[in-house]
Amino acid sequence: MTRVQLFVNNYNRLAAFFADWLSEDMRYVMSTRLSDAATYSLMAGGKRLRPALVMATAEMLRVALENVRGFALAVEYIHTSSLIHDDLPAMDDDSMRRGQPACHVKYGEAAAILTGDFLIARAFQALAGDVLQQPDVCKKLVTLLSGAVVALCEGQILDLDAAAASRVDDGGGGLGEESALELRRRHLMKTGALIRACVVGPAEFLSGSKSEGVKYALSDYGNCLGLLFQITDDILDATSTTEVLGKSAKNDSKQGALTYVSLFGVDAAKKLAQETADQALDALSLFGEDAWFHRALCLKVLERDK
Ligand code: IPE
Ligand code: IPE
Ligand code: MG
Ligand code: MG
Ligand code: MG
Repeated sequence: MTRVQLFVNNYNRLAAFFADWLSEDMRYVMSTRLSDAATYSLMAGGKRLRPALVMATAEMLRVALENVRGFALAVEYIHTSSLIHDDLPAMDDDSMRRGQPACHVKYGEAAAILTGDFLIARAFQALAGDVLQQPDVCKKLVTLLSGAVVALCEGQILDLDAAAASRVDDGGGGLGEESALELRRRHLMKTGALIRACVVGPAEFLSGSKSEGVKYALSDYGNCLGLLFQITDDILDATSTTEVLGKSAKNDSKQGALTYVSLFGVDAAKKLAQETADQALDALSLFGEDAWFHRALCLKVLERDK
């Protein structure tokens, strides 16, 4: 079996595990219009990158998969809530998500706002209600995840403010070094923080003298991977199609979003993606051969088509 096949099989194995956890967890939710809307957005699929990261990191650190069940559910609930809110007319005004009409298109804006709120609460319910979780680990995971949500919200508003400012100040002049740094910071907040939490979370189960070094390396890796993921998202928005992406292509330019592509062009964004992938791979060096799945994942994210 080739490395690529091994990676794909392993990713599918983790995604199948997660699908079981998700349907099991959603069974305990009362059926209302809100839970229907949440189920609609959750079950539409999506790549399940964040739970896969949680599970693959747990396996790399030899933490039992069952231990990260609540955390894996929580990160996907948070992520899905962020997508529902991100698509609202007041934000990116996108009508397609995960290959189907966006939540607000199908259920209306009020229900979409509430569904996002509902999923954030469900995330912490899944995490704190996980009977396997030791209280001290649970507290660390809640602290980590809530910090990521705070950063995500801050990043989202900075993103919207930057787009609004660029629409007003559309003089066509090049944006300087400071904007590139600001863009990196926004990407790290709106996308990187949750991805970083996915890979740092499983390390909260470790104790002993080596755990701080492990967390430090994973934090560095998570930041690089999160940045890489958003750079490639920006590239795909400009270069792919709605059909392939399952969400509207070219929406960034329609909204006047400030991205690596709008700032520097597609070629420079691809070069930056390659450099960021190299940095992510460097950050994994501490883990040696144990990080084989994460290494393959970095290359997959770099070359992804959706
Ligand atoms: C999209 O995330 C939002 C970004 C942070 C760029 P994904 O591309 O992981 O979305 P799904 O989960 O596969 O739908
Ligand atoms: C979204 O970034 C990041 C989130 C936290 C949802 P984008 O606005 O680029 O995500 P897409 O392209 O709509 O998925
Ligand atoms: Mg957005
Ligand atoms: Mg968007
Ligand atoms: Mg995008």
